Amino acid sequence: MALQDLFNRPLRDLRISVTDRCNFRCTYCMPAEIFGESYQFLPKDEILSFEEIARLARIFVGLGVNKLRITGGEPLLRTDLPQLIDMLSGIDPDVDLTLTTNAYLLPQQAQALKDAGLRRITVSLDTLDEEIFKQMNGRGFPVQRVLDGIEKAAEVGLAPIKINAVVQKGVNDHTVVDLARYFKGTGHIVRFIEYMDVGNRNGWKWDHVVSAADIVRQIEEELPLEPAESNYQGEVANRYRYRDGEGEIGVIASVTMPFCGDCTRVRLSTDGKLYTCLFASEGLDLRDHLREGATDEELERRIKGIWSRRSDRYSEERTELAPLQNGRQKVEMYHIGG
Ligand code: GTP
Ligand code: 5AD
Ligand code: SF4
Ligand code: SF4
Repeated sequence: MALQDLFNRPLRDLRISVTDRCNFRCTYCMPAEIFGESYQFLPKDEILSFEEIARLARIFVGLGVNKLRITGGEPLLRTDLPQLIDMLSGIDPDVDLTLTTNAYLLPQQAQALKDAGLRRITVSLDTLDEEIFKQMNGRGFPVQRVLDGIEKAAEVGLAPIKINAVVQKGVNDHTVVDLARYFKGTGHIVRFIEYMDVGNRNGWKWDHVVSAADIVRQIEEELPLEPAESNYQGEVANRYRYRDGEGEIGVIASVTMPFCGDCTRVRLSTDGKLYTCLFASEGLDLRDHLREGATDEELERRIKGIWSRRSDRYSEERTELAPLQNGRQKVEMYHIGG
């Protein structure tokens, strides 16, 4: 019998955070006022080694996982990352192996990642407007640097490339059509994400959310669209094709149309904790268990136990019981990579 949680959801997608550091300071994720020069990131001995990550990944694949996504912080800051990719790509040729990055270091690293067996890549880019982008990334980095990374990734064949844009009302919502237009016809897929209340520090309010429906309407007015089928059960993005055949976009409506019912994702933090929801308060430790000498069978039993008791559906509950959630501490985005 396949492993299922309390709502009969199978375990398919493992997201592995390889560092809690980032070279950006996006205002909604690692605001510079909080993450300054003296901020203490995790010390090296608390971070899972490549061997530990690969060992856990292999166990997860044995339990039904068919997609591994590397995240951070910013994963390209992890020293020798291609070495980890090489280890993970050897687990099973049928497993989809991908990575989410801000692309700043992609021009230098794309080829090595591809050679190590990375299949494709997702780049975060919220706007093409230079001033807004500089403000949103908190470090004044220019858009061109990210575009160079995307170009290099395309050149080495890390395709299909997806571009993730978080849309915040009054910040970048007037720039979504430009972003869609820029990538139309390139084969890259832009996905607009509703701004979410992840973590405890981004001061999220319902008023900051632009609904996926509004985003589609804005784009549709200038670039005609039609809905497209999901690629797979549980895909987070709703797909729309350009009517002229020049590609597609996606919208991720995690606030206005939660998709917990199909959620097959689990997240492994940099320090080896397992989070069964993006909005969980606590992770369940695997690292100490591993370092105390647990066998593969024991680790597998622990993971099975965690998943089979899982009942998370935060995004659905946000709508149903928002007032009850106030004050609860949630894991930060940079800790588990989104
Ligand atoms: P593909 O494999 O390319 O389909 O991508 P993916 O489904 O793994 O999506 P990706 O990791 O690019 O996720 C895009 C964004 O959607 C994330 O950065 C989050 O903002 C949001 N998201 C992804 N998974 C979840 C989830 O489980 N819950 C919620 N609420 N949001 C999610
Ligand atoms: N809401 C929606 N998406 C977010 N991301 C980070 N914080 C949020 C948020 N509050 C996105 C990043 C990146 C991915 C890892 O998660 O922009 O694309
Ligand atoms: Fe870094 Fe991504 Fe967070 Fe921005 S959203 S600070 S790029 S981890
Ligand atoms: Fe999955 Fe939690 Fe996101 Fe719902 S809120 S889709 S359960 S990660």
